[in-house]
Amino acid sequence: MLKIQNFYDDRSGTLSYVLADTATAKAAILDAVLDYDPAGGRTSTHLADALIDHVRAQGLTVQWILETHAHADHLTAGAYLRDALGARLAIGEHICAVQETWKGIYGLGEDFVADGSQFDELFADGDRFHLGDVEFRAMHTPGHTPACLTYVAGGAAFVGDTLFMPDFGTARCDFPGGDAAELYRSIHRVLDLPPETMLHMCHDYMPGGRPLAWSCTVSDQRRANKHVRDGISEAEFVAMRTERDKELDVPALLLPAVQVNIRAGGLPPPDPNGTCYLRIPLDTI
Ligand SMILES: [Fe+2]
Repeated sequence: MLKIQNFYDDRSGTLSYVLADTATAKAAILDAVLDYDPAGGRTSTHLADALIDHVRAQGLTVQWILETHAHADHLTAGAYLRDALGARLAIGEHICAVQETWKGIYGLGEDFVADGSQFDELFADGDRFHLGDVEFRAMHTPGHTPACLTYVAGGAAFVGDTLFMPDFGTARCDFPGGDAAELYRSIHRVLDLPPETMLHMCHDYMPGGRPLAWSCTVSDQRRANKHVRDGISEAEFVAMRTERDKELDVPALLLPAVQVNIRAGGLPPPDPNGTCYLRIPLDTI
């Protein structure tokens, strides 16, 4: 049986998950956050260390560090957790396209190779792997980004930014490589899962001041999602999403985050003085 524990980062509204097979105590960590203070240019590992403390207290052996996609709103702690726990770090195979796009935007040199080699495993649509006795299936769900994955396991699905809670709707599609029509089709692949499948979101922003919420069934989404409930056509969705995206601000951590996340959470190589620097392209986004 799959035991699911989430951890909420209230600065980015991100839900990270520890997933454990209760029979074998094998575990995975999904979408972990590396703390980053943009004003001071400081990273820290408080959130990631809380995950490590949790898995150690529970006696879990972490086999996988999983990413649903290269996040635009926070830095990932993937590389830090891989190194601390000796696990394998995985993301979708189309991360190579994301890396190529952003390599150009950031003007990265030949030392950054856009081949996914910063990760240990690149999953294709339909790939399966095991966490103890629990089978996981990777489902390619592009649209928010070209590389987004949904992980399906044990009667649940971890949808990343494919869907939000029904009262918030769906993720934006206006980042480089995003595509609203593609997101609509990806969402419908998720909504074709059995109706009782429990969907777990990567974000919640508590709209209207309601309490934090992170999961609901496929049925709940089909009945009530404000953007993609049953009856909303692809054309209606694309028109709504395109208009809505025009109004959204650039996420505060977009430019710091993506250059770290396409490195799997590794910082850029240090300059000769030993300091790591982020690059901020001007007037390109
Ligand atoms: Fe995202």
